[in-house]
Amino acid sequence: MTQVPSEAPSGLLAFDSGIGGLSIVRELRRLLPDARIDYLADNAVFPYGELPDDVLVERVCGVIGTAIERLRPGLVLVACNTASTIALAALRERFAVPFVGCVPPIKWAAETSRTRHIGLLATAATVRRPYLRMLQEQYAPDCRLIAYGARGLADLAEAAFRGHAPDPDAIRRELDRMFGQLGGDRIDVVGLGCTHYGVLLPMLRDLSPAGIAWLDPAAAVARRAAAMAEETGTGSGGSGGGRTWFTAPPGDEAGLHDGLVAVGYDGIHRFDAAVARDRSPAPPYRPRLTV
Ligand code: DGL
Repeated sequence: MTQVPSEAPSGLLAFDSGIGGLSIVRELRRLLPDARIDYLADNAVFPYGELPDDVLVERVCGVIGTAIERLRPGLVLVACNTASTIALAALRERFAVPFVGCVPPIKWAAETSRTRHIGLLATAATVRRPYLRMLQEQYAPDCRLIAYGARGLADLAEAAFRGHAPDPDAIRRELDRMFGQLGGDRIDVVGLGCTHYGVLLPMLRDLSPAGIAWLDPAAAVARRAAAMAEETGTGSGGSGGGRTWFTAPPGDEAGLHDGLVAVGYDGIHRFDAAVARDRSPAPPYRPRLTV
């Protein structure tokens, strides 16, 4: 592992608690082949979905603030629903850099569902938040939202990314907790509300009742980030590349390394997440519908 340089060329920074956001980066690389895209995984406190909201806001603002100082990105992509649905407003209030976030695809699900019964797989934190209720009230008021906060799926996705095929029974158990809820048998659309779950999508599809439309917002988020990069002049005129930074030793580095190379990275770099001084606490959380 190498240490973070104090200066780095400007480009994009994508951020998540682990490997989840790499599915968005894969799309972004196709859209912005010249852009330098650094990727920061705050795996030291993974999983984000099990952290209290106030702890998470402070953590995300602290780590991203440090990364902004050290890596100097022109645009930050918060490639994590659990972070976006609680910390995006605070990040925008604290830092001048433009941010793109990602939130559960409730609008898309409402546009797609015929039965008006929408499933959502997300982390426990995302499922319990007012932000999700706001999305439903605004975009799917006539739908029954059957959301399940899955504890196990993000871990399975981390392992799958490293080449370890998940136990189908473990996936089935998580799916049963969504489809087994009242009205679950009428679900015809399921949104992925956690960027990690894209890695598991083929299995989720195979192990679910037939005829379900699965919505993975990764490509749409990548398009939004690419459009904003173009608007702000970030990411053009470079030669691609970027590094993957981890806030703690990531475990099974050999398997992880191969996955990272497939997304255009050279391997694992260590990010010392010591949070910079002189920073006021995050402003109070006020849910707002902005991504
Ligand atoms: N990838 C993150 C998301 O999109 C969550 C994983 C975690 O719990 O850390 O919500």
